[in-house]
Amino acid sequence: MTYLIALESEIIGHRPFHRRAMPPAASSLLRHLSHNSTPYRDPLTSLDWDALDTRDYWLPPQAVSICGLPEFATLNEAVKRRLSQYEFINVMLCGLWLERVFIVRLGNALAGGMDAAERSWLLHEIREEAGHSLMFLRLIETSALPLPERTWRGPWLADACARRLPATGPLFWLAAAIGEDIPDKFNRYVRQHGGEVNPVIHQACTLHIVDEARHIAYAREQLEIHLARTGTLRRRWLAAALDLLLRQFALRFYFPPAEFYELAGLTRGMWWRRAARADPQRREFVRERMAPTVRMLGQYGFRVGPFV
Ligand SMILES: [Fe+2]
Ligand SMILES: [Fe+2]
Repeated sequence: MTYLIALESEIIGHRPFHRRAMPPAASSLLRHLSHNSTPYRDPLTSLDWDALDTRDYWLPPQAVSICGLPEFATLNEAVKRRLSQYEFINVMLCGLWLERVFIVRLGNALAGGMDAAERSWLLHEIREEAGHSLMFLRLIETSALPLPERTWRGPWLADACARRLPATGPLFWLAAAIGEDIPDKFNRYVRQHGGEVNPVIHQACTLHIVDEARHIAYAREQLEIHLARTGTLRRRWLAAALDLLLRQFALRFYFPPAEFYELAGLTRGMWWRRAARADPQRREFVRERMAPTVRMLGQYGFRVGPFV
C-alpha cells in the first residue's frame, strides 16, 4: 500500500500544476518536432472517408481477442467482422480518453512559464491530438454501429492520475509515455497487416503513427528530465504504480468490455471476455505487442510485466 499512499500525496499534495513551470526540454528537439508538425495533416480532410465500410474487417482476424479460441472458427464471417469493428472501436475509445487527458493537461501547462519553442510545440501536439480525436469520432459516427452510453470506462487508477496528477511530475510522464507507446505499437501491427483491413482504418493508423512518433519523443524527453531528478525511494514506488497502471491499461486496451461481444452478435459477453483473458494465444499476442514498451521502460530501469 505504500505506493498508493505515495501516489495520493503525489496527486493531492502538489499545488495546482499550472502554477509550476514545466522543466525545459532541449530547444533543438522542440524546433525539430514543431518543424515536422508544421505541414499539418487534418485527418478529417485527408482520409478517404467514402471508402469506410462495415463489410470489411477493421482489425486483422488474428488480432481479434477471441481468435485463439476453438469456438472462433465456428462463428460466421459477419460476426467475426463485426467483432473486429467493435474491438477497433474499443481502441478508439481508449484513444479518445487518452487524448482528452493530454489536451487538458498540456493545455493547462501553457499557463506556466516556458519559452516560445516549448509553447509552440505544445500547441502543435494539442492540435494533432484534437485531430486524432475528431478522426475517431467520425469513424465511430460513420460506422453507424450502435454504441450505448456507459459501456466503456477508463481504467480507474489512470483516470485518477489523469484528473489530478500534475504534468510536472515523473508519474504523469511515465503514464503519458506508456499511454502513447502501447496504442502506437498496436497501430503499427494493424498497419503491417493493412491488406486485411478496411483502407480507411489503414489510413487512420498510418496518420496516427506519424504524429505519435513526435509525441512519444517529447514524452520520453520529459520523462528522462524528471527521472534524472528522482531519488531511489521515489523510483521504487513509481515502479509499483507503473506496474499497476500498465496492468489496468493493457486489460482495457486489449480486452474489450463484455457488452462489445454482445453488440457484435454473441451472447454471454462476460463469458467471451473471460475466455479471451484466459486464452494463452491472446496473452502471447498481447505480450508480443507490448514487448517494445517493456524494453523502453527497461532502459529507464523499470522491470515490468507480464501483464496478462
Ligand atoms: Fe493521438
Ligand atoms: Fe499522442
